[in-house]
Amino acid sequence: MGTKITPYKNKEATKKAQVAKMFDNIAGSYDFLNHFLSLGIDILWRKRAVREIGKISPKTILDIATGTGDLAVEASVLKPTKIVGVDISEGMLEVGRKKMKTKGLDLIIELQSGDSENLPFEDNSFDAVTAGFGVRNFENLPKGLSEMHRVMNKGGKLAILEPAEPNTFPFKQLYSLYFKWVLPLVGKLVSKDNAAYTYLPESVAAFPSGQAFLKELEIAGFKNPQHIKLTFGVAALYTATK
Ligand SMILES: C[S@@+](CC[C@H](N)C(=O)[O-])C[C@H]1O[C@@H](n2cnc3c(N)ncnc32)[C@H](O)[C@@H]1O
Repeated sequence: MGTKITPYKNKEATKKAQVAKMFDNIAGSYDFLNHFLSLGIDILWRKRAVREIGKISPKTILDIATGTGDLAVEASVLKPTKIVGVDISEGMLEVGRKKMKTKGLDLIIELQSGDSENLPFEDNSFDAVTAGFGVRNFENLPKGLSEMHRVMNKGGKLAILEPAEPNTFPFKQLYSLYFKWVLPLVGKLVSKDNAAYTYLPESVAAFPSGQAFLKELEIAGFKNPQHIKLTFGVAALYTATK
């Protein structure tokens, strides 16, 4: 695994505490910036992830690192009986809870405070587990992945979305310019957080992607891990079963 990248480069605070603080800080502008900076394509990536778990018609879904709950909302089209979203940032969850009320989804989708590396659920509790752009932020990735495996039912399906770095010309070069210069500048101006959108490209660069991530999934106990490149490799969808 790569070097530990933290948002505020503060050696006193754990990565988890820094990540929670960062998302509390940007919670109010997170949804707008997400859609603006990805030109709305993030919505299609979540739909693609939901299509994968839809193959097993899950009745119960756990959305890890749910944030403001966009992946949970997308998963509601599968008509499950229950979706639970967990996150360590109360600020993000608050924005998410208002969203669920507005959309009339608050009876199906429950957003609760919780740490992915120590999930407050019994073994074999959910048919599907999802994580949208969250696992890169874990303090301890192997622990987080093995917790996701533990709470998933046998025969269940996992779908993880992560930003990625394209590696073919000219996408690699164009994306690098955008991701390292344009995105941090716009992110800083809109969110008013100096670190969050610099941490994003740094954390993506340090994250084990592609084959390396498939290996992590296998070590955590998942079967048949697969990597699907999205939008010229700008995002990655990882799927697996238990
Ligand atoms: C980029 S946001 C993604 C939100 C949402 N899943 C989406 O698709 O837009 C990442 C989220 O991961 C959460 N997170 C990071 N580490 C976590 C952990 N150990 N346990 C739970 N949530 C965590 C952050 O608080 C943040 O809300």
